[in-house]
Amino acid sequence: MNRPITKDNPYRICFVCLGNICRSPTAEGVFQHLVNERGFQSYFYIDSAGTSAYHIGEPANSKSQFVANQQGVKLHSKARRFDMADLEDFDLILAMDHENFNNLNRLDSRGIHSDKIRLMRDFDPQPGDGAVPDPYYGGMDGFQNVFDVLKRSSENLLDELAKSINK
Ligand code: 4NP
Repeated sequence: MNRPITKDNPYRICFVCLGNICRSPTAEGVFQHLVNERGFQSYFYIDSAGTSAYHIGEPANSKSQFVANQQGVKLHSKARRFDMADLEDFDLILAMDHENFNNLNRLDSRGIHSDKIRLMRDFDPQPGDGAVPDPYYGGMDGFQNVFDVLKRSSENLLDELAKSINK
């Protein structure tokens, strides 16, 4: 993940979960918010996708939006499925849990992109079991926890990447 990041060659990150309606849209929104706060908009291209086709075309889950909006973060995603071209297209592909991570690596059948497929919680100072827990079937507290985990991980990730920005 260490290459010079310039305005001519922005760093491309795709956050990936199962449905692309809860965790990865929140990650996309939080990371974009932090990038905007630091004035780094020209240095990053940020997107999200799901490994399943269950919710294609849908906006972020209403509970994800509620929790994010309370913190001033807007979620603009429209669910799409991660595909083979995305493996080529992004510098860093961040899986929300081990199942997503395994599915992404299966898609990369020749293993040529494995260096850029990582777990989001590799960047969490308190990584727990490495998974951002799926909040879909639970209550609001699960969505709040997802937001908190993703904020912490995103801050750390951006601190790391900011070292490679060449102004
Ligand atoms: P996400 O949450 O992967 O964080 O978007 C889920 C959304 C939908 C389903 C599961 C998890 N589902 O089974 O439909």
